[in-house]
Amino acid sequence: MPNSVSIQSDLPGYGTGAPIDFGVAPSDTKGRMCAPVTFGRSRFTQAYDLLARHEELQFEQCVAIDGLEIEVHPNVLSPSLTTTSRFFAQTILDQNPHGSILEIGVGTGYCLTRIGVARPSTDLFGSDINPDAVAVARRNLVRNGLHGKIYESDLFEGFEGMSFDMILFNPPLLFGEPENRLELAIFDRQGMTIQRYLKSLRAFLAPAGRSMILSTDRNQRENNGPSFDEVLDGCGFRHSVVATLDRAFEVYSAHLVEV
Ligand SMILES: C[S@@+](CC[C@H](N)C(=O)[O-])C[C@H]1O[C@@H](n2cnc3c(N)ncnc32)[C@H](O)[C@@H]1O
Repeated sequence: MPNSVSIQSDLPGYGTGAPIDFGVAPSDTKGRMCAPVTFGRSRFTQAYDLLARHEELQFEQCVAIDGLEIEVHPNVLSPSLTTTSRFFAQTILDQNPHGSILEIGVGTGYCLTRIGVARPSTDLFGSDINPDAVAVARRNLVRNGLHGKIYESDLFEGFEGMSFDMILFNPPLLFGEPENRLELAIFDRQGMTIQRYLKSLRAFLAPAGRSMILSTDRNQRENNGPSFDEVLDGCGFRHSVVATLDRAFEVYSAHLVEV
């Protein structure tokens, strides 16, 4: 079994809104350049900062997070590097999840694993479009003594004819083009993924089923788009914000959605 390492989840400099002095313009492995930051932090700089921190993780190892041992992978965003995964997982647990739980975009499986450990009677299902996430999420369930079914799937593609008591999605939140498997966790083409999710959601919810979805206010502020509440209104859902996470540069909301 790989060694476990504890990694501080709320890393200094990430998510604080404080300027970062890179000295030289950082570039990623594809040679894309982003300008040195002199004031504030652009959303792309923050994303590149997160990706750079991800590269620094010691892979083939596990992170210890919330009493769980979670294997990490170079192509799958580690929940130890963001505050949102833990915020989302805790918010879901506060909503008393029961019955069958499907997490779309399961990533490392941290969230599903946390639910399964806290609520052993739940039936766990997950999907991810990233095959590396599927493999690592499967291993993380087993590593933490759980059973579950994790499929490689574009959203609900692999679940035709099934319905669930709770469906979860912590989606890629920034408008942009993902250029590799890791970036599928961060960038979404003009919010198309979340729109497709909302369009399909009803068909996969059991009677009285619920969905928990994470949103940011950033695209609304930066692109003058509708708020996520307005998007949910437009889809005809009953919904409420059950928790918010204010990170100075943006506010994340956990939405409870019902049909
Ligand atoms: C922000 S990450 C969340 C990961 C994990 N649920 C967590 O909270 O730590 C978003 C996840 O959605 C996955 N994803 C992106 N587009 C997807 C799609 N069309 N279908 C399924 N999963 C998708 C990404 O690969 C990534 O694992």
